[in-house]
Amino acid sequence: MNLEKIAFRWSPNLWSTALKGTECYHQLLTQKKMRILEIGASSSIVSLMFDVTQSDIKVGCWQKKQMSEATSALKDLSNLQSKYTVAQVDAFEIVGKFDVIIMKSVLGGLFRTHNSTLDECELYIKSLLKNNINEGGVFITIDNGKHMAEKLLKSIGILKTRWRRFSIQDLSFADNKGFAGAILTVGSLTYRIYIIGFFIDKLLFNLDCLLMKLLPKHPNVICSVFKK
Ligand SMILES: C[S@@+](CC[C@H](N)C(=O)[O-])C[C@H]1O[C@@H](n2cnc3c(N)ncnc32)[C@H](O)[C@@H]1O
Repeated sequence: MNLEKIAFRWSPNLWSTALKGTECYHQLLTQKKMRILEIGASSSIVSLMFDVTQSDIKVGCWQKKQMSEATSALKDLSNLQSKYTVAQVDAFEIVGKFDVIIMKSVLGGLFRTHNSTLDECELYIKSLLKNNINEGGVFITIDNGKHMAEKLLKSIGILKTRWRRFSIQDLSFADNKGFAGAILTVGSLTYRIYIIGFFIDKLLFNLDCLLMKLLPKHPNVICSVFKK
């Protein structure tokens, strides 16, 4: 089984492009035996992208159901190089210090637009860096970008949730950012209409990569890396 597929599950091309677009990810892959924490994992386990580092990886899930999804996803994988422990972890009550903390598609839900501000979100990241990241370590968050046609999509019932989507200018104190997509790849059809969906997703992704060159200010996915 391809680790990247399990790491990103729903739109692997798009989301992995954003992570791989950061210099920091490639530097981290040259290190070994790190202490890594993933927050908000499910059957999609983004920390698998660090498997080659032979690290101690804590796969943090918020709910029991996601703990069993993560556990069974890991059981299906053979020849893993890192050691994985699945645990219940609340993003607001993290205990201990890590070399890497990573979350994928979590931050925007923790700080939804109707009950939080961007300042609160930034303060949260700063406190994670201060309290839970080892010196020289990093916090990585991969999130949905603010869609160019957000208003239109909301008016036709897509993007209804009050999930916080980030623009390039948000979280400006990040040391490193990676971007992917422009306007076409809003969700994934692979898990809805399977093989046909897979091909549509792939086509849209490739078109989106081209469009991104024309519309670089509106990425669909943004990976932000904060160093301590
Ligand atoms: C959109 S899902 C993303 C799940 C997975 N990371 C992925 O990319 O498929 C958002 C996740 O955030 C988790 N979550 C919500 N509140 C949380 C909290 N306080 N602490 C940790 N995780 C939380 C949810 O359980 C959910 O799994």
